[in-house]
Amino acid sequence: MKMKKFLMASAIIAFGSTSFAAEVISPEEWKLYQEGINPGEVFAEEVGGALFNKPMGPEGKSCASCHTKNGEVEEKVATAAAYYPKYDPSCGKVINLEQRIQLCQAKYQKVKPFKLKSKENVALTTYLFYLAAGTPINVDISEPHVKKYYEYGRYIFTLKRGKRNLSCQVCHEFAAGKILRMQPLYPLGTKAINGTPGRASASLWPAFRMTKNKVQTLQQRFQGCQKQGGQKKLPLGSKEMVALEVYVKSLSNGVELKTPGLRR
Ligand code: HEC
Ligand code: HEC
Repeated sequence: MKMKKFLMASAIIAFGSTSFAAEVISPEEWKLYQEGINPGEVFAEEVGGALFNKPMGPEGKSCASCHTKNGEVEEKVATAAAYYPKYDPSCGKVINLEQRIQLCQAKYQKVKPFKLKSKENVALTTYLFYLAAGTPINVDISEPHVKKYYEYGRYIFTLKRGKRNLSCQVCHEFAAGKILRMQPLYPLGTKAINGTPGRASASLWPAFRMTKNKVQTLQQRFQGCQKQGGQKKLPLGSKEMVALEVYVKSLSNGVELKTPGLRR
């Protein structure tokens, strides 16, 4: 089993205090964590990997039946997480990896696809991101359809809405370098803003969230911010969310995926 070790020191910094961590994560997860194992990787392999290899549908096909050669997941699928969202001609729109998985389930496995918010879809997604770890992010924003999503995503990013009249930009650009609820705000991409270096956040999601005790996707993280910012959550997979994903992820183009990440 391929598992990277995490240093306890970084854990303590991330949590502030270890007792806090012990309160919010389950005893089993805490044990893994103390052993230096990222529970997100365990989830990717044991839940996502198992689903990838599980025969389903009328023809008993698994993802692996079509996408594995000599026991290895084929390159284009093993690195897809770095390239998605991508334009899909058969859908006539830009889709993210979660939706690509649904497409293969419907089109090729001939099953009812797992819902975007289901544990199963998140597990398969996390598995593909886990396989793609080390591949540089490359969302092709020169492709005309993707470019439109990029521009729309930037618009959504700057749009003020909700009862506190906030936009993503207010917190992640204007307030970059400031502290909010004891958490420093970093620019999301690679570029520094207000002298604060960016953290290429998209290279770390899906991530195991210690405060939620589960893996969340990038779009689910956006929803968390929308909720905290007093905005109505945008639906997973909506045009607005895919556009936001294209925009935010492209800000980290060139940075290697370190997925699944481990986040507070
Ligand atoms: C019966 C064969 C078959 C099965 C089963 C299947 N796929 Fe696919 N998959 C394909 C084909 C063919 C393509 C490329 C053509 C297309 O875009 O439809 C593809 C494309 C993909 C891509 C996109 C690659 C790219 O470069 O854009 C991903 C990711 C993927 N599949 C993942 C999965 C996952 C995960 C499962 C299981 C839930 C799965 N597939 C099940 C046949 C299959
Ligand atoms: C009220 C301020 C606020 C608003 C509005 C806000 N965020 Fe956040 N966001 C935060 C805080 C605080 C964090 C956690 C600190 C961190 O990880 O940088 C965070 C974390 C994130 C992360 C994870 C960063 C990482 O490195 O793991 C992403 C991605 C993100 N926000 C995207 C967005 C998007 C997209 C929007 C608009 C839909 C948005 N945020 C709106 C405050 C905000």
